[in-house]
Amino acid sequence: MAPKVRPGIMEIAPYVGGEASIPGISRPAKLSSNENPLGPSPKAMAAFREAAVELHRYPDGGAEKLRDGIARRFGLEKELIVCGNGSDELIALLTRAYAGLGDEVLFSHHGFLMYRLSALAVGATPRAAPEKNLATDMETLLAMVTPATRIVFLGNPNNPTGSYLAAKELRELRRRLPGDVLLAIDAAYAEYVEAEDYDAGEDLVRAGDNTVMLRTFSKIFGLAGLRLGWAYCPPGVADVLNRVRGPFNTSAPAQAAALAALEDREHERRSREHNKTWRDWLSAVLAKQGYRVHPSVGNFLLIEFADADAADRFLKSRGLILRKMGPYGLERCLRLTIGTEAEVRALAAALADFAGAGAVAAERP
Ligand SMILES: Cc1ncc(COP(=O)(O)O)c(C=O)c1O
Repeated sequence: MAPKVRPGIMEIAPYVGGEASIPGISRPAKLSSNENPLGPSPKAMAAFREAAVELHRYPDGGAEKLRDGIARRFGLEKELIVCGNGSDELIALLTRAYAGLGDEVLFSHHGFLMYRLSALAVGATPRAAPEKNLATDMETLLAMVTPATRIVFLGNPNNPTGSYLAAKELRELRRRLPGDVLLAIDAAYAEYVEAEDYDAGEDLVRAGDNTVMLRTFSKIFGLAGLRLGWAYCPPGVADVLNRVRGPFNTSAPAQAAALAALEDREHERRSREHNKTWRDWLSAVLAKQGYRVHPSVGNFLLIEFADADAADRFLKSRGLILRKMGPYGLERCLRLTIGTEAEVRALAAALADFAGAGAVAAERP
């Protein structure tokens, strides 16, 4: 007799990460997971290496030094910061702590997949609010709140659409949500955003007991392989997360590298600038080639195709790995990460050929 699994679990289609290899191609361009094309900060790599001699020790379960560093850097209270094994873990822990069987977890239709998967994992019902122009539609989202709603996850900016809710709307969303609904603002790409009307959500966290902001070292800080995310929480939520997380949920090398990455402001600045330069360049070039490219404030772009599978096959034949968007209900789209200059140019050239539009890759940004 087989053990009985909890409701919801078998509805989960396991998360499939971005592909990393193409048979027969030795060094493909991996533009499928929104990683930093400049790699990790050299200072983070040095800290990681240094941590190697202490691998026999358990990590600092409270991530004290890293939380000090995050608090200093972002002007936050250390005791309200909780670290996780990637922000993925924090999404899962929040869902486990605040939702269960019969509850609803709400997000916008093309929101990051983990919101849905985390809800199913605890037996809660995931509810996806329709979007307008591939952006969160606040009115629709609010209209879908029911007495069973426990958490609203908001990717801001959202992956894979690249859109964001402006600070004013974010405040209004919080104001109009019932007080007992947790608003989890997932600001994984916050460091890339330069729009003046954007706010990652720190003030909203401070203003009440029911809003959390999630951040990560996987994106601009270039440490996706080490798995380090953090949450800025009201005291009650920080207390809850500290009760449900594993005692050593983030590793010592990850903590050391993340702290060093945080202090390497130059690497962060170069990463942001590189992203802006090549995201803007590529968006303009692809638009000229006749592609529909959705505006993005992150380190990725979403492009529409008549046949995204054919485009994906063609790009793979040129050694370029993008992300298929079927799991997000965007079958006609591929998402690309802004890569190195060479990768971005190779992609522009390949897409020009795919569109039959002629080469454009020599244009300067
Ligand atoms: C919106 C969003 N949130 C969270 C994550 C997960 O980040 P982490 O690597 O910290 O688990 C991602 C990763 O792609 C993301 O796009």
